Amino acid sequence: MHSVIDMKWAVLATWKMSENGNRIASEILSENGKASEAVLQGISDVEDNPNFHSVGFGGRPDINCRVILDGGYMDGDTLHFGAVGAIEGFRSPIHIAYSLKEGDANNFLVGKGAEEYAEKHGFEKRDNLTKEMVALYEQEKEKRKQLSAYDGHDTVCFLAKDTYNSICAGTSTSGLFMKEKGRLGDTPVVGNGFYADSKTGAAAATGMGEEIMKGCLSYGAVMYMKMGMSAQESAERVLWELHNELVERNGYANPMSLIVLDKDGNFGVSTNIEFTFTYASDQHPGETYIAKPVEGRTVITKATEE
Ligand code: GLY
Repeated sequence: MHSVIDMKWAVLATWKMSENGNRIASEILSENGKASEAVLQGISDVEDNPNFHSVGFGGRPDINCRVILDGGYMDGDTLHFGAVGAIEGFRSPIHIAYSLKEGDANNFLVGKGAEEYAEKHGFEKRDNLTKEMVALYEQEKEKRKQLSAYDGHDTVCFLAKDTYNSICAGTSTSGLFMKEKGRLGDTPVVGNGFYADSKTGAAAATGMGEEIMKGCLSYGAVMYMKMGMSAQESAERVLWELHNELVERNGYANPMSLIVLDKDGNFGVSTNIEFTFTYASDQHPGETYIAKPVEGRTVITKATEE
């Protein structure tokens, strides 16, 4: 699974919820479409599905029962990135983030400013709060103290390499369930939630944003690849280094998972919880995998083998 091969195209995405998006992205890439298009379409598929409660439509609400979204995009050819944080009432944060990557300033917009930008540029609006999530909010509000900090952290991240050897990264999330007004996690923060460099590879993170940002996981993984490590070695090194530091200093580490794609399309994955992901390339049919932490390293199996 970790042999190093030069793929024509490859796509790697977080969580089982990316299965259909990964199929869409694979089709685009196999027909010589661009990595950017594969990432946008793959993520949009998840943003539009109300059955996934951590992204877009049907996402879990914040402390005021509002669905507040974050998203980020990075182009590995130019290193340009775009991102939106704490945005409400729009269909696709990834598309808005993507549009912000042009130019050398104003690439990361949050809150009202991001919403005004999206409105001005004609991005589709949508009320992302579903009846199901209002009911969940009402039910959980009473027992908020018992909620696990991980609830609602399943960010969708896509990394893609196309047949032109361009690599890019995209992310989208509704963030932490019952998060405070104004809270941002790692998802829209370049270097933390995502990073892409077509000369080296890309990485993206899911899990507790506050934890991921303590180690700049995505940039760290790409740096380790730049230093010569494989995608898998880089993923393991950066995540477990941070995990171990946090355990040593605080006695625990919150959930973190990392996906890494090298410039040739080989993947690496690391996690300190059970984590699912999807991967496809011109040489590997689309597959869902389960990653588990075992004694300070990550064991990966095909979901069909479980
Ligand atoms: N990783 C998503 C968040 O913490 O908001």
